[in-house]
Amino acid sequence: PDVETFNCRQALEQLSSNIFELLRTAGTVGDELNQNVYVVGGFVRDLMLKTDNWDIDFVTEGDGIVFAKALHQAVGGKLTVHPQFETAVIRLSSHITLDVVTARREYYEYPAALPKVEKSNIWSDLFRRDFTINCMAISLNQSSFGDLSDYFGGMKDLQNKSIRVLYNLSFIEDPTRIFRAIRFAARLGFHLEASTRQFLQQALQNDMIRRLSHDRIREEFLHMIREQESLHNSMTLMRELGIFQALHSGFIVQSHTLERLKGIRFAMEGFRQLSPSSFNQTVVMLMQIMSEVLPTDLEEVCQILIANQTLIQQMMKSMNQRDTIYLILREDEVDRFTIYQLLRAHTEEALMFFYNDSDDPYIRHYIAFYLLKLRHIQLTISGNDLKSLGINPGPIYRRILDNVLKAKVLGTIYDHDGELKYAENLYNRLKEALHA
Ligand code: CTP
Repeated sequence: PDVETFNCRQALEQLSSNIFELLRTAGTVGDELNQNVYVVGGFVRDLMLKTDNWDIDFVTEGDGIVFAKALHQAVGGKLTVHPQFETAVIRLSSHITLDVVTARREYYEYPAALPKVEKSNIWSDLFRRDFTINCMAISLNQSSFGDLSDYFGGMKDLQNKSIRVLYNLSFIEDPTRIFRAIRFAARLGFHLEASTRQFLQQALQNDMIRRLSHDRIREEFLHMIREQESLHNSMTLMRELGIFQALHSGFIVQSHTLERLKGIRFAMEGFRQLSPSSFNQTVVMLMQIMSEVLPTDLEEVCQILIANQTLIQQMMKSMNQRDTIYLILREDEVDRFTIYQLLRAHTEEALMFFYNDSDDPYIRHYIAFYLLKLRHIQLTISGNDLKSLGINPGPIYRRILDNVLKAKVLGTIYDHDGELKYAENLYNRLKEALHA
């Protein structure tokens, strides 16, 4: 936005009519309750950047829960109140969420603690926030509708593409802001203002990141990974600032790894078009980001980033077998059954990771062939069919079924009849061999 000419009221009027009406209604509700109501934070930032934002944050000077209940009466949706935090949420539709907080001042009893709060006014509510660009409010009450409160130079920083904290202890008090600073810088193509960068680095030197619980780190990290468009930027900044190493000294991420990240979306898109699949892209991204971590550090790094223990075990198994898999698939003539056996123990995500991680054309070719064709091969016969052929149940069943599967994967047989005939012949040959 141009600081000189930007007109908040006009910008609000240019929003879609349902959002504009909603803001008008919030102002009227505030007037009726004799409360000052503001729209704040990301919504204001994105209004100035002309980006849609359907998460609307309101701050009230007065009881936010009373306001939220009255607003809910007026606009409908699903209301949830959190009396202990004096906040409420109204979910209007699948994509519009209204958050209401009572203007508050926050203070921290010790670094990285959750804040203590007390009722306050809009200035203090803005002052407790992270970056100037997120610290603006627009008044919604009728008599002041559209008036901007920009106490900390947020609009100017938007214009200068600058991420700036309000005070030097910001990252110490809330180290999640380290991740947030990177996420916004990457998403918006902004830079960290010089002293903000220094404060961030001081917080890192003081090991503030390690004071965060794994849950909070995970939440911030995954938030970043889900912002696919800017993932390469955010991870590059993470690396430049030494955040990976601050998380764990063995969390090595090289620049070529970051280059690889770019390929994942395209590769996955390609596979999705060729064959319906439900890859979890985040998992593939995580594997790629951790691809240089040594086996001895891998589990600890996984534990920081991932909560699901089964997923951790699966990922580690695949990542630890990666070199063996590459070694076998690097040959120019690997038979179908070797490929099948080698890859079937791995998830789609792990296979996608191998595909993206390796630049050897043979490896890529075999993995694609497995993903698109071989993995769909299954037997149609079972133990019951062997019984109908008059074969007595026993370990021989496994042996026969494995061999039928092998023949099917190799392409010697392809349908139910073929499987049955193959099983029967095999049984007869085994029997003869036993008698011989
Ligand atoms: N906020 C903060 N410090 C945090 C988290 C949030 O100061 N650690 C404030 C910021 O003012 C932010 C607002 O709370 O604008 C809402 O937080 P959130 O919804 O996480 O951020 P948005 O700015 O709406 O970002 P996004 O566009 O990613 O939703």
